Amino acid sequence: MSEGGVPVVSEAHNVKTYQVPNKYYEKHPAKPHLTLDEYKAQYRESIENPDKFWGEKARELLHWDIPFQTVRNGSFEHGDVSWFLEGRLNACYNCVDRHAFKHPERPAIIYEADEPSEGRIITYGELLREVCKLAFVLRQMGVRKGDTVAIYMPMIPEALVAFLAIVRIGAVHSVVFAGFSAESLRDRVLDARSKVVITTDEGKRGGKVIGTKRIVDDALKQCPEVKNVLVYRRTGSEVPWTKGRDYWWHEEVNKYPGYCAPTLMDSEDPLFLLYTSGSTGKPKGVVHTTAGYLLGAAMTGKYTFDLHPGDKMGTAGDIGWITGHTYVVYAPLLLGVSTLVFEGTPAYPEFSRYWDIIEKHGITQFYVAPTALRLLKRAGDHHINKQMKTLRVLGSVGEPIAEDVWKWYHQKVGHEECHVVDTYWQTETGSHAIAPMAGVTPTKPGSATLPFFGIEPAILDPVSGDELHGNDVEGVLAIKKPWPSMARTVWGSHQRFMEAYLNDYKGYYFTGDGAGRDHEGYYWIRGRVDDVVNVSGHRLSTAEVEAALIHHEAVAEAAVVGIADELTGQTVNAFVSLKDNFENTSEMRKSLTIQVRKSIGPFAAPKAVYIVNDLPKTRSGKIMRRILRKILSGEEDQLGDTSTLSDPSVVSAIIKTVQET
Ligand code: WT7
Repeated sequence: MSEGGVPVVSEAHNVKTYQVPNKYYEKHPAKPHLTLDEYKAQYRESIENPDKFWGEKARELLHWDIPFQTVRNGSFEHGDVSWFLEGRLNACYNCVDRHAFKHPERPAIIYEADEPSEGRIITYGELLREVCKLAFVLRQMGVRKGDTVAIYMPMIPEALVAFLAIVRIGAVHSVVFAGFSAESLRDRVLDARSKVVITTDEGKRGGKVIGTKRIVDDALKQCPEVKNVLVYRRTGSEVPWTKGRDYWWHEEVNKYPGYCAPTLMDSEDPLFLLYTSGSTGKPKGVVHTTAGYLLGAAMTGKYTFDLHPGDKMGTAGDIGWITGHTYVVYAPLLLGVSTLVFEGTPAYPEFSRYWDIIEKHGITQFYVAPTALRLLKRAGDHHINKQMKTLRVLGSVGEPIAEDVWKWYHQKVGHEECHVVDTYWQTETGSHAIAPMAGVTPTKPGSATLPFFGIEPAILDPVSGDELHGNDVEGVLAIKKPWPSMARTVWGSHQRFMEAYLNDYKGYYFTGDGAGRDHEGYYWIRGRVDDVVNVSGHRLSTAEVEAALIHHEAVAEAAVVGIADELTGQTVNAFVSLKDNFENTSEMRKSLTIQVRKSIGPFAAPKAVYIVNDLPKTRSGKIMRRILRKILSGEEDQLGDTSTLSDPSVVSAIIKTVQET
């Protein structure tokens, strides 16, 4: 270890350890919440005495209408994890009311529109009024406690108003990323049995218009249970209208007063569901419950990002994914700071957009996925012509950050004055699982460093399931004990929840990631060991893409593999065999790509489609995707044992196709 940002080499991973830069403390409004020794002591307490630790934190960070009596109950074995029992609270009250009463003029939302000149600021006082009005509208539409409401919206303040209004009345939000296709939206609305959908006439992103309302209309053709669509007017274009079903947001909210009381919820009442991909073709509606999730969001906002009053949190992720839920919406609002809602892209109108925003609003914590950083690094350093003096924390999320990108972020964006925090977590963990604490934890580029409070990681031997103790071990990553913000179930199928996370290694939560623990106890995430791929920060399963391809009339069989990509992290690549009477043409390949865009969304489109006569299969008919992955990675000389293939000659034919395409 070393002083003030001067790196020294640590042997095992041969990378340098970075201390918190001295400048970090100089620009700090006060000082970090903890020292490294305090982190270590409190971490130990969180593991050894979780009832005391979490009980105190829950009372400190959340407002309870009725206090809880029991901090913790249940286990991984039984799949009945529950926290803060008998307690009652409301998520919206915790995010809005308590701040609006004390500091109504404080900015809650910094809205940076797609066009740099069109944004605005929404204070906590205004936010409370807008949320209450919308809560009345939803009630009027028949939404009751426990009902799900779908949100299909771009990154505008009203999306946050929608989240908060839904949970204010005890309903459950189900946000569908506005990049998903009509078919994906339909499946999610049906699975969640949402009866109301909230959307906009259109969206704007990177200078382009997105027809959100049209997509909703398409999706709802097959959703007979949806009674109402509430439409926020974003662009003012003409959109198709279904009388009696569709209502304008601005007309409805004007009918109601600016205050309504929040509905008290049990700690374990569902707060939201969010669909995510696993090993199977069908996305799972991951369910988070009220108190535990909120506490995880508030705790990680406070400690990982070192949030303090007056800070301005700038999370570049979309509200359609968990990063947006936890770090655009819940964490900053729970702590009463300002949160950035950025509608656009890092490249519009210029590659300097993020840096312009940080400078313009005085952002203190910036949080983004490495895929965007790779794009910006490639675009050239001349775009970073800002000092960005307010920045203290630079967060990274969603995929491993390569050492060169980490250093670029630290040097060029942070001017070596900021703390880079690489945060490892998942939709299912709700909030950071392994991450440095800003201002506290020495970092190593590429490592998510040390576990967050209450997270007891275990590295398991993937085959035997035995826990590998001590340092310098590699295996799969599991977590040993329940933590407050973990997902509780899969909507409509607790069995799927058990199978996906708790049954593989009995007594552990299984993350699906490979990981190592180095000689100093630092964690290095190696990537998924299942069929999940991550394309530009969007989580997909290869099975999902295969299911989309199989729906194409020409497709006999499909196998999809994820391959490492310098820019997007991973890409989707499809191998397809056609039915008789269909021909291998470039139109056919295009039509297969369109099929995936239509079925899932543009972000899932395969980078390449290879049409082959046959797929590599075992004698029992199992497709050997490992072989396809090797071929695409240019490792066709390392295919391993191919003797189990029913027809080994297909391999050379596929190699030839790949080389020629
Ligand atoms: C998967 C979860 C966490 C919010 C965004 C993604 C990968 C996540 C890191 C990181 C390496 C990471 C894992 C994980 N991942 N953060 N810091 N370093 N890999 O959430 O869509 O649920 O995806 O993202 O593979 O399992 P998600």
